[in-house]
Amino acid sequence: MTAIQSQAFTVPDKWKWFTESRYGMFIHWGPYAQYGRGEQVLFREHLDHKEYAEQACAWNPEHYDPELWAYTARKAGFKYACFTTRHHDGYCMWDSSYTDYSSAKQAPQRDFVREYTEAFRKEGLRIGLYYSWIDWRLPAYFDGPAKDPEGWEKVRAYLHAQVKELLTNYGKIDHFFFDGVWPRNADDLQSVRLVEEMRALQPDILINNRLGYSAAHDGYRADGGVGAGDSDTLGDFGTPEHVIHAEQKRLWESCQVTTWRLWSHVIGERWRPADVLLDMLCESAEKGGGHGGNLLLNVGPTADGQLPPEFVERGLEIGRWLEVHGEAVYGTDGGSVTEFITRGRQTTRGNNLYLIIRFWDGRPDMRLADLTTRVKGVTLLTTGQELAFQQNGDELWIHGLPREAPTRLFPVIRVECEGKPEANQWGRERLWEGDPARVADWARLRGTSVFADGAER
Ligand code: GLC
Repeated sequence: MTAIQSQAFTVPDKWKWFTESRYGMFIHWGPYAQYGRGEQVLFREHLDHKEYAEQACAWNPEHYDPELWAYTARKAGFKYACFTTRHHDGYCMWDSSYTDYSSAKQAPQRDFVREYTEAFRKEGLRIGLYYSWIDWRLPAYFDGPAKDPEGWEKVRAYLHAQVKELLTNYGKIDHFFFDGVWPRNADDLQSVRLVEEMRALQPDILINNRLGYSAAHDGYRADGGVGAGDSDTLGDFGTPEHVIHAEQKRLWESCQVTTWRLWSHVIGERWRPADVLLDMLCESAEKGGGHGGNLLLNVGPTADGQLPPEFVERGLEIGRWLEVHGEAVYGTDGGSVTEFITRGRQTTRGNNLYLIIRFWDGRPDMRLADLTTRVKGVTLLTTGQELAFQQNGDELWIHGLPREAPTRLFPVIRVECEGKPEANQWGRERLWEGDPARVADWARLRGTSVFADGAER
Protein backbone atom coordinates (compact mmCIF):
# COMPACT_ATOMS: atom_id res chain seq x y z
CA MET A 1 0.00 0.00 0.00
CA THR A 2 1.11 3.47 -0.83
CA ALA A 3 1.39 4.94 2.63
CA ILE A 4 3.67 2.17 3.83
CA GLN A 5 5.82 2.38 0.71
CA SER A 6 6.43 6.09 0.96
CA GLN A 7 7.55 5.69 4.57
CA ALA A 8 10.04 3.05 3.49
CA PHE A 9 12.00 5.24 1.12
CA THR A 10 12.45 8.95 0.64
CA VAL A 11 13.67 10.09 -2.74
CA PRO A 12 16.76 12.31 -2.66
CA ASP A 13 16.15 15.71 -4.28
CA LYS A 14 18.50 14.98 -7.17
CA TRP A 15 16.26 12.08 -8.25
CA LYS A 16 12.90 13.78 -7.82
CA TRP A 17 12.75 14.38 -11.58
CA PHE A 18 12.36 10.63 -12.01
CA THR A 19 9.15 10.31 -10.02
CA GLU A 20 7.87 13.59 -11.47
CA SER A 21 8.50 12.22 -14.98
CA ARG A 22 6.86 8.85 -14.51
CA TYR A 23 6.94 8.08 -18.24
CA GLY A 24 10.04 7.32 -20.32
CA MET A 25 10.64 6.13 -23.86
CA PHE A 26 12.85 3.08 -24.36
CA ILE A 27 14.51 2.93 -27.79
CA HIS A 28 15.95 -0.36 -29.05
CA TRP A 29 17.78 0.36 -32.24
CA GLY A 30 20.87 -1.02 -33.91
CA PRO A 31 21.98 -2.96 -37.01
CA TYR A 32 19.81 -5.91 -35.94
CA ALA A 33 16.80 -3.84 -37.11
CA GLN A 34 17.75 -4.90 -40.65
CA TYR A 35 16.60 -8.46 -39.98
CA GLY A 36 13.24 -7.36 -38.59
CA ARG A 37 13.17 -10.23 -36.11
CA GLY A 38 14.18 -8.55 -32.87
CA GLU A 39 17.40 -7.39 -31.22
CA GLN A 40 18.56 -10.89 -30.34
CA VAL A 41 18.51 -12.36 -33.85
CA LEU A 42 22.28 -13.02 -33.89
CA PHE A 43 22.13 -15.32 -30.88
CA ARG A 44 18.63 -16.74 -31.15
CA GLU A 45 19.23 -17.88 -34.69
CA HIS A 46 22.93 -18.48 -33.97
CA LEU A 47 23.83 -16.73 -37.19
CA ASP A 48 27.26 -16.68 -38.69
CA HIS A 49 29.26 -13.98 -36.86
CA LYS A 50 31.17 -12.87 -39.92
CA GLU A 51 28.11 -12.41 -42.08
CA TYR A 52 26.29 -10.56 -39.31
CA ALA A 53 29.25 -8.22 -38.82
CA GLU A 54 29.48 -7.53 -42.56
CA GLN A 55 25.84 -6.58 -42.68
CA ALA A 56 26.18 -4.50 -39.51
CA CYS A 57 29.15 -2.59 -40.96
CA ALA A 58 27.22 -1.89 -44.16
CA TRP A 59 24.12 -0.69 -42.26
CA ASN A 60 23.37 2.95 -43.06
CA PRO A 61 20.02 4.20 -41.71
CA GLU A 62 19.61 7.28 -43.83
CA HIS A 63 16.32 8.38 -42.32
CA TYR A 64 17.56 8.56 -38.73
CA ASP A 65 16.31 11.97 -37.64
CA PRO A 66 16.67 12.22 -33.85
CA GLU A 67 15.12 15.69 -33.84
CA LEU A 68 11.91 14.23 -35.23
CA TRP A 69 12.10 11.38 -32.70
CA ALA A 70 12.58 13.85 -29.86
CA TYR A 71 9.73 16.09 -31.03
CA THR A 72 7.45 13.05 -31.28
CA ALA A 73 8.57 11.85 -27.85
CA ARG A 74 7.72 15.19 -26.26
CA LYS A 75 4.33 15.34 -27.96
CA ALA A 76 3.67 11.78 -26.78
CA GLY A 77 4.16 12.91 -23.17
CA PHE A 78 7.47 11.18 -22.47
CA LYS A 79 9.71 13.06 -20.06
CA TYR A 80 12.87 11.06 -20.59
CA ALA A 81 14.28 8.47 -22.96
CA CYS A 82 16.74 5.61 -22.87
CA PHE A 83 18.67 4.68 -26.00
CA THR A 84 20.56 1.45 -26.74
CA THR A 85 24.18 2.54 -27.07
CA ARG A 86 25.26 -1.08 -27.47
CA HIS A 87 23.16 -4.21 -27.37
CA HIS A 88 24.28 -7.84 -26.94
CA ASP A 89 25.63 -7.95 -30.50
CA GLY A 90 28.44 -5.57 -29.48
CA TYR A 91 27.86 -2.96 -32.22
CA CYS A 92 28.45 0.53 -30.79
CA MET A 93 26.16 3.41 -31.65
CA TRP A 94 28.77 6.04 -30.77
CA ASP A 95 32.29 7.00 -31.65
CA SER A 96 34.17 4.75 -29.24
CA SER A 97 37.96 4.99 -29.15
CA TYR A 98 38.13 1.36 -28.08
CA THR A 99 36.69 -0.32 -31.18
CA ASP A 100 35.99 0.31 -34.85
CA TYR A 101 32.74 -1.71 -34.68
CA SER A 102 30.59 1.41 -34.48
CA SER A 103 28.26 3.71 -36.38
CA ALA A 104 31.02 6.33 -36.38
CA LYS A 105 33.70 4.13 -37.95
CA GLN A 106 31.50 2.05 -40.26
CA ALA A 107 29.03 2.98 -43.04
CA PRO A 108 27.02 5.79 -41.41
CA GLN A 109 30.11 7.69 -40.21
CA ARG A 110 27.84 9.24 -37.61
CA ASP A 111 27.84 9.30 -33.82
CA PHE A 112 24.25 8.24 -33.20
CA VAL A 113 24.52 8.65 -29.43
CA ARG A 114 25.71 12.24 -29.78
CA GLU A 115 22.85 13.05 -32.14
CA TYR A 116 20.34 11.41 -29.81
CA THR A 117 21.55 13.14 -26.64
CA GLU A 118 21.64 16.56 -28.30
CA ALA A 119 18.22 16.28 -29.93
CA PHE A 120 16.40 14.90 -26.88
CA ARG A 121 17.99 17.40 -24.51
CA LYS A 122 16.90 20.20 -26.82
CA GLU A 123 13.28 19.05 -26.50
CA GLY A 124 13.62 19.14 -22.71
CA LEU A 125 13.76 15.39 -22.13
CA ARG A 126 16.10 13.76 -19.64
CA ILE A 127 18.74 11.46 -21.09
CA GLY A 128 19.12 7.73 -20.47
CA LEU A 129 21.65 5.32 -21.97
CA TYR A 130 21.26 1.55 -22.24
CA TYR A 131 24.44 -0.53 -22.28
CA SER A 132 24.76 -4.30 -22.46
CA TRP A 133 27.54 -5.97 -20.47
CA ILE A 134 27.34 -9.03 -22.65
CA ASP A 135 28.99 -9.04 -26.06
CA TRP A 136 28.14 -12.22 -27.99
CA ARG A 137 31.26 -11.87 -30.10
CA LEU A 138 33.72 -12.33 -27.26
CA PRO A 139 34.50 -15.87 -26.05
CA ALA A 140 36.29 -14.50 -22.99
CA TYR A 141 33.03 -12.98 -21.72
CA PHE A 142 31.58 -16.49 -21.46
CA ASP A 143 34.79 -18.24 -20.35
CA GLY A 144 35.09 -15.69 -17.57
CA PRO A 145 37.93 -15.02 -15.13
CA ALA A 146 38.29 -18.64 -13.93
CA LYS A 147 38.86 -20.18 -17.37
CA ASP A 148 40.56 -17.29 -19.10
CA PRO A 149 41.91 -14.74 -16.60
CA GLU A 150 43.85 -12.70 -19.15
CA GLY A 151 41.13 -12.65 -21.79
CA TRP A 152 38.56 -11.77 -19.15
CA GLU A 153 40.64 -8.90 -17.83
CA LYS A 154 40.76 -7.41 -21.33
CA VAL A 155 37.00 -7.67 -21.70
CA ARG A 156 36.34 -6.19 -18.26
CA ALA A 157 38.66 -3.27 -18.92
CA TYR A 158 36.96 -2.69 -22.29
CA LEU A 159 33.50 -2.59 -20.69
CA HIS A 160 34.59 -0.20 -17.96
CA ALA A 161 36.36 2.07 -20.42
CA GLN A 162 33.33 2.26 -22.70
CA VAL A 163 30.92 3.08 -19.90
CA LYS A 164 33.22 5.85 -18.67
CA GLU A 165 33.61 7.12 -22.22
CA LEU A 166 29.82 7.40 -22.53
CA LEU A 167 29.66 9.30 -19.27
CA THR A 168 32.48 11.67 -20.24
CA ASN A 169 31.74 12.72 -23.80
CA TYR A 170 27.99 13.32 -23.94
CA GLY A 171 27.15 15.91 -21.29
CA LYS A 172 24.79 15.23 -18.43
CA ILE A 173 23.44 11.69 -18.36
CA ASP A 174 20.47 11.21 -16.05
CA HIS A 175 19.71 7.53 -16.32
CA PHE A 176 21.84 4.47 -17.06
CA PHE A 177 20.39 1.07 -17.92
CA PHE A 178 22.77 -1.90 -17.76
CA ASP A 179 21.57 -5.18 -19.22
CA GLY A 180 22.68 -8.71 -20.08
CA VAL A 181 24.80 -9.78 -17.11
CA TRP A 182 24.54 -13.55 -17.44
CA PRO A 183 26.69 -15.61 -16.87
CA ARG A 184 28.89 -13.15 -14.99
CA ASN A 185 28.34 -11.70 -11.51
CA ALA A 186 29.04 -8.35 -9.91
CA ASP A 187 32.41 -9.51 -8.60
CA ASP A 188 33.65 -10.64 -12.04
CA LEU A 189 32.42 -7.40 -13.56
CA GLN A 190 33.63 -5.27 -10.65
CA SER A 191 30.40 -3.44 -11.14
CA VAL A 192 30.38 -1.91 -7.66
CA ARG A 193 33.71 -0.22 -8.37
CA LEU A 194 32.49 0.90 -11.79
CA VAL A 195 29.36 2.40 -10.21
CA GLU A 196 31.57 4.50 -7.90
CA GLU A 197 33.57 5.73 -10.88
CA MET A 198 30.36 6.49 -12.76
CA ARG A 199 29.16 8.61 -9.84
CA ALA A 200 32.43 10.51 -9.82
CA LEU A 201 31.78 11.42 -13.47
CA GLN A 202 28.03 12.01 -13.14
CA PRO A 203 27.11 12.71 -9.51
CA ASP A 204 23.33 12.80 -10.10
CA ILE A 205 23.05 9.74 -12.34
CA LEU A 206 20.49 7.03 -11.63
CA ILE A 207 21.85 3.52 -12.27
CA ASN A 208 19.65 0.45 -12.65
CA ASN A 209 19.95 -2.89 -10.85
CA ARG A 210 21.31 -5.12 -13.61
CA LEU A 211 24.76 -5.13 -12.09
CA GLY A 212 25.06 -8.83 -11.35
CA TYR A 213 24.75 -10.51 -7.99
CA SER A 214 27.50 -9.81 -5.54
CA ALA A 215 28.90 -12.09 -2.85
CA ALA A 216 29.31 -9.09 -0.60
CA HIS A 217 25.88 -7.58 -1.19
CA ASP A 218 23.43 -10.34 -2.07
CA GLY A 219 25.21 -13.59 -1.39
CA TYR A 220 25.88 -15.74 -4.43
CA ARG A 221 22.78 -16.73 -6.29
CA ALA A 222 22.39 -18.15 -9.72
CA ASP A 223 20.96 -15.74 -12.23
CA GLY A 224 18.46 -18.41 -13.18
CA GLY A 225 19.31 -17.85 -16.81
CA VAL A 226 16.86 -14.98 -17.09
CA GLY A 227 19.66 -12.88 -18.47
CA ALA A 228 18.69 -9.65 -16.85
CA GLY A 229 20.79 -10.25 -13.73
CA ASP A 230 18.59 -8.10 -11.58
CA SER A 231 20.08 -7.52 -8.16
CA ASP A 232 17.88 -6.95 -5.15
CA THR A 233 20.33 -4.66 -3.45
CA LEU A 234 22.62 -3.11 -6.05
CA GLY A 235 21.35 -0.26 -8.16
CA ASP A 236 19.28 2.86 -7.62
CA PHE A 237 16.17 1.52 -9.32
CA GLY A 238 14.58 -1.81 -10.03
CA THR A 239 13.64 -2.84 -13.58
CA PRO A 240 10.70 -5.25 -13.60
CA GLU A 241 10.49 -6.42 -17.21
CA HIS A 242 7.15 -7.20 -18.91
CA VAL A 243 5.52 -6.88 -15.48
CA ILE A 244 4.51 -4.03 -13.20
CA HIS A 245 5.82 -4.82 -9.79
CA ALA A 246 6.26 -2.24 -7.04
CA GLU A 247 9.48 -2.23 -5.04
CA GLN A 248 9.33 -1.10 -1.45
CA LYS A 249 12.79 0.28 -0.82
CA ARG A 250 13.97 1.96 -3.95
CA LEU A 251 12.83 3.58 -7.15
CA TRP A 252 11.46 1.31 -9.83
CA GLU A 253 10.61 1.45 -13.47
CA SER A 254 8.71 -1.21 -15.37
CA CYS A 255 9.97 -1.71 -18.91
CA GLN A 256 7.37 -2.84 -21.39
CA VAL A 257 7.00 -3.41 -25.09
CA THR A 258 4.35 -1.69 -27.19
CA THR A 259 4.20 -4.82 -29.28
CA TRP A 260 4.57 -8.42 -28.19
CA ARG A 261 7.82 -9.78 -26.81
CA LEU A 262 10.79 -8.49 -28.78
CA TRP A 263 12.28 -5.04 -28.28
CA SER A 264 13.72 -4.01 -31.63
CA HIS A 265 11.84 -3.63 -34.89
CA VAL A 266 9.96 -6.69 -36.10
CA ILE A 267 8.40 -7.06 -39.53
CA GLY A 268 4.79 -8.25 -39.26
CA GLU A 269 4.56 -7.14 -35.64
CA ARG A 270 1.28 -7.01 -33.73
CA TRP A 271 0.68 -3.85 -31.70
CA ARG A 272 -1.01 -3.39 -28.37
CA PRO A 273 -3.82 -0.84 -28.52
CA ALA A 274 -3.39 2.63 -27.01
CA ASP A 275 -5.66 1.92 -24.04
CA VAL A 276 -3.58 -1.11 -23.05
CA LEU A 277 -0.44 1.04 -23.15
CA LEU A 278 -2.06 3.86 -21.22
CA ASP A 279 -3.37 1.40 -18.67
CA MET A 280 0.21 0.24 -18.01
CA LEU A 281 1.18 3.84 -17.30
CA CYS A 282 -1.78 4.32 -14.96
CA GLU A 283 -1.07 1.01 -13.22
CA SER A 284 2.56 2.04 -12.65
CA ALA A 285 1.42 5.38 -11.23
CA GLU A 286 -1.19 3.66 -9.07
CA LYS A 287 1.25 1.09 -7.70
CA GLY A 288 4.00 3.62 -7.27
CA GLY A 289 4.34 6.14 -4.57
CA GLY A 290 6.45 9.16 -3.93
CA HIS A 291 9.34 6.85 -4.78
CA GLY A 292 8.61 5.33 -8.11
CA GLY A 293 6.18 3.68 -10.37
CA ASN A 294 7.60 4.61 -13.74
CA LEU A 295 6.85 3.12 -17.12
CA LEU A 296 9.64 2.84 -19.68
CA LEU A 297 7.70 2.14 -22.85
CA ASN A 298 9.62 0.71 -25.75
CA VAL A 299 9.82 1.41 -29.45
CA GLY A 300 11.93 -0.37 -32.06
CA PRO A 301 12.61 2.05 -34.94
CA THR A 302 12.87 0.63 -38.45
CA ALA A 303 16.17 -0.29 -40.09
CA ASP A 304 16.23 2.98 -42.04
CA GLY A 305 15.71 5.02 -38.88
CA GLN A 306 12.02 5.80 -38.55
CA LEU A 307 9.61 5.44 -35.67
CA PRO A 308 6.97 2.94 -36.84
CA PRO A 309 3.67 4.72 -37.68
CA GLU A 310 1.75 2.35 -35.37
CA PHE A 311 3.88 3.57 -32.48
CA VAL A 312 3.55 7.25 -33.41
CA GLU A 313 -0.21 7.00 -33.71
CA ARG A 314 -0.61 5.33 -30.30
CA GLY A 315 2.01 7.53 -28.68
CA LEU A 316 0.39 10.77 -29.86
CA GLU A 317 -3.06 9.64 -28.76
CA ILE A 318 -1.70 9.01 -25.26
CA GLY A 319 0.16 12.34 -25.45
CA ARG A 320 -3.09 14.18 -26.18
CA TRP A 321 -4.70 12.41 -23.22
CA LEU A 322 -1.78 13.41 -20.99
CA GLU A 323 -2.11 17.06 -22.03
CA VAL A 324 -5.53 17.06 -20.38
CA HIS A 325 -5.09 14.42 -17.67
CA GLY A 326 -1.35 14.63 -16.93
CA GLU A 327 -1.91 15.77 -13.34
CA ALA A 328 -3.38 12.32 -12.61
CA VAL A 329 -0.10 10.66 -13.65
CA TYR A 330 3.01 12.87 -13.48
CA GLY A 331 4.52 13.19 -10.01
CA THR A 332 1.55 11.55 -8.30
CA ASP A 333 1.93 10.05 -4.83
CA GLY A 334 0.71 6.58 -5.76
CA GLY A 335 -2.89 5.66 -5.40
CA SER A 336 -5.19 2.85 -4.62
CA VAL A 337 -6.81 4.61 -1.67
CA THR A 338 -10.31 3.20 -1.97
CA GLU A 339 -11.45 -0.09 -3.44
CA PHE A 340 -11.99 0.95 -7.06
CA ILE A 341 -11.27 -2.15 -9.10
CA THR A 342 -14.84 -2.28 -10.43
CA ARG A 343 -14.35 1.08 -12.17
CA GLY A 344 -10.70 1.52 -12.99
CA ARG A 345 -7.61 2.93 -11.33
CA GLN A 346 -6.80 5.70 -8.88
CA THR A 347 -3.91 7.99 -8.10
CA THR A 348 -3.43 10.78 -5.59
CA ARG A 349 -1.50 13.98 -5.54
CA GLY A 350 -1.56 16.13 -2.44
CA ASN A 351 -5.24 16.45 -1.44
CA ASN A 352 -6.57 15.27 -4.79
CA LEU A 353 -7.85 11.82 -5.58
CA TYR A 354 -7.99 10.97 -9.28
CA LEU A 355 -10.46 8.37 -10.46
CA ILE A 356 -9.28 6.97 -13.78
CA ILE A 357 -12.33 5.33 -15.30
CA ARG A 358 -11.64 2.29 -17.46
CA PHE A 359 -15.26 1.20 -17.60
CA TRP A 360 -17.63 3.98 -18.54
CA ASP A 361 -21.16 2.71 -17.92
CA GLY A 362 -23.09 5.72 -19.23
CA ARG A 363 -25.02 6.19 -16.00
CA PRO A 364 -25.35 9.72 -14.60
CA ASP A 365 -24.55 8.79 -11.00
CA MET A 366 -21.54 7.05 -9.51
CA ARG A 367 -21.02 5.85 -5.97
CA LEU A 368 -17.54 5.78 -4.50
CA ALA A 369 -17.27 3.74 -1.34
CA ASP A 370 -14.64 4.00 1.42
CA LEU A 371 -13.33 7.57 1.18
CA THR A 372 -13.31 9.08 4.68
CA THR A 373 -11.72 12.47 3.94
CA ARG A 374 -14.15 15.38 3.44
CA VAL A 375 -14.63 16.36 -0.17
CA LYS A 376 -14.49 20.00 -1.33
CA GLY A 377 -15.21 19.63 -5.01
CA VAL A 378 -15.50 17.14 -7.87
CA THR A 379 -14.48 17.86 -11.45
CA LEU A 380 -14.65 15.82 -14.61
CA LEU A 381 -11.08 16.61 -15.63
CA THR A 382 -11.70 15.48 -19.21
CA THR A 383 -14.13 18.35 -19.90
CA GLY A 384 -13.47 20.67 -16.97
CA GLN A 385 -17.09 20.30 -15.88
CA GLU A 386 -17.83 20.71 -12.16
CA LEU A 387 -19.89 17.81 -10.87
CA ALA A 388 -22.50 17.79 -8.14
CA PHE A 389 -21.78 15.45 -5.23
CA GLN A 390 -23.09 14.31 -1.89
CA GLN A 391 -21.04 12.80 0.86
CA ASN A 392 -22.60 10.70 3.60
CA GLY A 393 -19.89 9.41 5.91
CA ASP A 394 -17.59 7.23 3.85
CA GLU A 395 -19.90 7.14 0.84
CA LEU A 396 -19.55 9.65 -1.96
CA TRP A 397 -22.14 10.09 -4.69
CA ILE A 398 -21.14 11.91 -7.85
CA HIS A 399 -23.89 13.22 -10.13
CA GLY A 400 -24.34 14.57 -13.63
CA LEU A 401 -21.95 12.35 -15.53
CA PRO A 402 -22.40 12.41 -19.32
CA ARG A 403 -23.94 9.41 -20.99
CA GLU A 404 -21.17 9.11 -23.54
CA ALA A 405 -17.56 8.68 -22.46
CA PRO A 406 -15.96 12.10 -22.97
CA THR A 407 -12.76 10.56 -24.38
CA ARG A 408 -11.90 7.40 -26.30
CA LEU A 409 -9.28 6.68 -23.64
CA PHE A 410 -9.98 6.90 -19.89
CA PRO A 411 -12.06 9.78 -18.50
CA VAL A 412 -10.72 11.11 -15.20
CA ILE A 413 -12.64 12.53 -12.25
CA ARG A 414 -10.73 14.72 -9.81
CA VAL A 415 -11.99 14.59 -6.25
CA GLU A 416 -10.56 17.47 -4.27
CA CYS A 417 -10.45 16.69 -0.55
CA GLU A 418 -9.85 18.78 2.55
CA GLY A 419 -6.77 16.72 3.42
CA LYS A 420 -4.77 13.85 2.01
CA PRO A 421 -7.31 11.25 0.82
CA GLU A 422 -7.77 8.46 3.35
CA ALA A 423 -9.98 5.40 3.38
CA ASN A 424 -11.85 3.23 5.84
CA GLN A 425 -10.94 -0.37 6.62
CA TRP A 426 -12.50 -1.64 3.37
CA GLY A 427 -10.30 0.64 1.34
CA ARG A 428 -7.21 -0.33 3.28
CA GLU A 429 -7.66 -4.08 3.49
CA ARG A 430 -9.42 -5.20 0.30
CA LEU A 431 -10.20 -8.76 -0.69
CA TRP A 432 -7.83 -11.46 0.62
CA GLU A 433 -6.24 -9.11 3.13
CA GLY A 434 -6.74 -7.74 6.62
CA ASP A 435 -8.97 -8.96 9.41
CA PRO A 436 -11.70 -11.36 8.19
CA ALA A 437 -13.90 -10.18 11.10
CA ARG A 438 -14.86 -7.19 8.93
CA VAL A 439 -16.32 -9.53 6.33
CA ALA A 440 -18.06 -11.61 8.99
CA ASP A 441 -19.73 -8.51 10.47
CA TRP A 442 -20.89 -7.43 7.05
CA ALA A 443 -22.26 -10.91 6.23
CA ARG A 444 -23.99 -11.05 9.62
CA LEU A 445 -26.06 -8.03 8.59
CA ARG A 446 -28.09 -10.38 6.39
CA GLY A 447 -28.26 -13.21 8.91
CA THR A 448 -26.30 -16.45 9.36
CA SER A 449 -27.87 -19.28 7.36
CA VAL A 450 -27.55 -20.61 3.81
CA PHE A 451 -31.19 -19.77 3.09
CA ALA A 452 -32.13 -16.84 0.89
CA ASP A 453 -33.39 -14.74 3.77
CA GLY A 454 -30.39 -15.55 5.97
CA ALA A 455 -32.61 -16.78 8.78
CA GLU A 456 -31.76 -19.93 10.72
CA ARG A 457 -34.46 -22.58 10.58
C1 GLC B 1 16.27 -8.35 -21.86
C2 GLC B 1 16.80 -8.70 -23.23
C3 GLC B 1 17.04 -7.53 -24.09
C4 GLC B 1 16.28 -6.26 -23.80
C5 GLC B 1 16.05 -6.02 -22.35
C6 GLC B 1 15.20 -4.83 -22.02
O1 GLC B 1 17.11 -8.52 -20.83
O2 GLC B 1 17.94 -9.52 -23.20
O3 GLC B 1 17.04 -7.89 -25.42
O4 GLC B 1 17.06 -5.24 -24.29
O5 GLC B 1 15.57 -7.13 -21.75
O6 GLC B 1 14.98 -4.71 -20.65
